Parts: sequence; structure tokens; C-alpha cells
Amino acid sequence: MDKLIIRGGKRLSGQIQISGAKNAALPLMAASLLTDKPLRLSNLPRLADITTMGDLLNTHGATVTIEGAMGNGSPYGRILSLHARTITDTTAPYDIVRKMRASILVLGPVLAREGVAKVSLPGGCAIGTRPIDLHLEGLKALGAEIALDSGYVTARAPRGGLQGNRIVFPSVSVGATENLMMAACLAAGDTVLENAAREPEIIDLGRCLLAMGAKIEGLGTGTIHITGQSGLKGADYATMADRIEAGSYAVAAAITGGDVFLKNADGAIMEAVIRCLEMAGATVIQSANGLQISRTGPLQPITCKTQPYPGFPTDMQAQMMALVTLAEGESVIREAIFENRFMHVLELARMGADITIDGAKATIRGVKKLTGAPVMATDLRASMGLALAGLAAEGETHVQRLYHLDRGYERIEDKLTGLGADVERVAT
Ligand code: EPZ
Repeated sequence: MDKLIIRGGKRLSGQIQISGAKNAALPLMAASLLTDKPLRLSNLPRLADITTMGDLLNTHGATVTIEGAMGNGSPYGRILSLHARTITDTTAPYDIVRKMRASILVLGPVLAREGVAKVSLPGGCAIGTRPIDLHLEGLKALGAEIALDSGYVTARAPRGGLQGNRIVFPSVSVGATENLMMAACLAAGDTVLENAAREPEIIDLGRCLLAMGAKIEGLGTGTIHITGQSGLKGADYATMADRIEAGSYAVAAAITGGDVFLKNADGAIMEAVIRCLEMAGATVIQSANGLQISRTGPLQPITCKTQPYPGFPTDMQAQMMALVTLAEGESVIREAIFENRFMHVLELARMGADITIDGAKATIRGVKKLTGAPVMATDLRASMGLALAGLAAEGETHVQRLYHLDRGYERIEDKLTGLGADVERVAT
């Protein structure tokens, strides 16, 4: 298992390129199962989760061809051509699903295409139980019969295939919205998704489905209308830039008192994050092709609460907490999306942070300095929070279990050293 050794105290400066969005790329790849034609996806980040999703598509009979780099001279991103000419196996096996919860996103497409799908229950993860009841209730509303047996969920469409319907989500779910939007594309008749998630990654998926010939209206709103088609065609689609990666490196600039340009970052879909960064004392300048982030004055305390988009994203909670451990004052961060997403707190405390937890509320009293320490990562975003704290800490921070970071951050050590950080990846 690799670890990251970070020698803190360097002000970051310069420019990095923001990669394609992991949480857009994964549903986009699953959408390839909806058609027997090739789906060509570009700007896909080179991440472990993308490889895992490719392996899963292979098990269903799709071919995954790496067409190579983007051809723009950049070392980041690549082009994959995904072709599910036929689906040879409708089962998503446990040994893949257990590695990546997003595997559940093949359920809707395989069921809609083949009339049956069997997916291992994803199980919980470090941040929570991660149920899939909203996915299953939605598929039932389209006529599917759902059976749970031996750790697998099996969904069967009626003889005439899935039937369009009105689905009202009792709570907002990104994955359930994506699964149901994909399934509805091949259902007979019209489907309306009410209380749908509005994340930009869902808009990206919808735009790709439109390019594949789907009929969808209301993308980006809480009500999405889909008119089912008998089949979809192939498409050539570029993945959106990763707003969470951009937010993470924006914190890297702010926590080190640096001045960094994030090429391809889209400020228009990062308003809540930008507001928090400015509350914390950073300066954010938006331009046509990226964001300039700097901080010269002292860090200021913030108050924020994670919410569905357009609210402050839960995937930025650990990173923002790392930032305000060094603020002049007391910050309050509330985690309202997941039930157990404060694992980074104890590790930050080992670096000298002063944080108390009361249920879903974290109170962070700023300290003068953090001290580097060996820290253990538990999930993707907690790992990033620890790495960011290490950039500002005195001394060395060893972030263990680097595979967490490799799931969501493309070539993290290259990007950080490219900004002047003293970071190295070491095999352990
Ligand atoms: C997506 O997960 C993202 N993953 C997560 O990013 C992100 O944190 C999350 O959305 C929220 O924005 C991908 O897109 C691959 P949800 P997802 O369904 O779809 C509950 C990262 O670090 N819920 O919106 O699983 C659920 O437990 C990852 O990149 C149900 O109760 O999130 C949670 O409390 C982590 N029943 C809340 O809803 C369900 O059927 C939001 O979950 C589904 C979800």
C-alpha cells in the first residue's frame, strides 16, 4: 500500500489542470449499457474507480477500448470507447461491487435493456450504511419486481418491459436519480421524476443521454421528464470538469496562503464552495477557463452545512474543515447528508486541531499551527482533508492507505508538486 509523505509549510503557486469529474464519468460509463452502439467518452480521469467501472462493464459483455490520451498535450484524462453490442451477463458480481458502490448504477440500464438485472448489494462504507431503497422503490414504480436474496438484488421488468410512471423521491438521491433517469429512457411512455437531485453531474449524464437520442426535459431542476424510446444510439461525449477536485485544490491554495490558477474549473457550479472559501478569507476570481484562488490575510472562521446541490457539497466537508482548523476563531460545520462522515476529525486532532463533535455538528476552534503526523485515511474525501492539513502543518505528514485518494484524485502528487508542494508517493 502506498503512502503520501507531505512536508508542510510551502505556499502553493502556479497552475494545474482540473480533470474530468469522477462522479460524472461513472454514470456516463454505465449509460453505455443502454445502447448496442459505441459510446465514446473523453476527458475521463485516470482513476481506480474508472478502471473498476470498466471491469464491471466487461463482465456485462461490453468492450472497453482505451483510445489513449486526449491529444491536447495534457498528461491528464483519456478517451474510452465503450460498446455493449450485446449484454452477455446481467449480473454485477460482489467482488466488483464491494470495491465501488457506484456499481449500483448498472442496475437501471441493464434492467431496462435486458428485462432482468442482478446486482450485489453494495453494502455500507466508512461514511454510512448507504441504502439503495430509493433506487429500488423507483424501479418498482416502473413495473419492476424486486427480490433480495443472498446479498444480491434481482430486478425483473414486466413482460412488456418497464412502463413509464410518476416517481416522487421522498428524499434527494444523486444515484437514484441517475439510475431512474437511465432506466426511464427505455421504458414505455413517459416518466416524471419529482424531488430529483440537481447535481451538475446529473445534468452531464442527461446531456449525454440526449446526445444518444433520449428525450429528457427539466435537467437541473427537481422535476425531470423522460419520454421512453425503443432504443438509443451511440454518441461522442466529453465529461465535465470535476468541481470537487477543483474545490479540493482551491483549499490547498487557501490553506497554504498561496496563489493558484485552476484551469477548467467552472465557478458557475461551485457557488456554495466559493462562498465558503471567501468567508474563510480567500480571494476567488472567476474567468472563462478557470478559477484563481489566493489568500494573503488570516483565515477566518466559517459556518456551513452540507446540503444537496446547489447547497454546500458533502464531498467538500472534510476539506473545508481542514482549512478552518487554522482560522482565527470558532467555525461550525454540519454534516446533513451522511450519518458518519467525520472520520477525519480524530486524525486532524492528532495533528493538533481543536474540534468537538456533537452529533452532526462539528465545532472547530482555530489553532495557531498544525503539526505533521502519520495519519490514517478512511474514505476518499477524509484522505484529501488530511493531505490538505499536511500541506500547512509543520513537519512531515504521512497519509497512509493512498488507495482511497487514488479513487478520486488523478495523479495527486504530480499536481501538488507542480504547485510547489513538497510531496512524494512512497511504497510501503
Ligand atoms: C453520490 O453518492 C456521490 N457518488 C457521492 O460522492 C456524494 O457524496 C453523494 O452523491 C451526495 O452528493 C457518486 O456520484 C458516485 P445519494 P450517492 O444517493 O448517489 C441516502 C465521493 O466522495 N440514500 O445522493 O450514493 C444516502 O444514505 C462520493 O465522491 C438513501 O437513504 O448519494 C445519503 O444519506 C461519496 N436511500 C443520502 O441519501 C437510497 O436509496 C444521499 O445519498 C439512496 C441514498
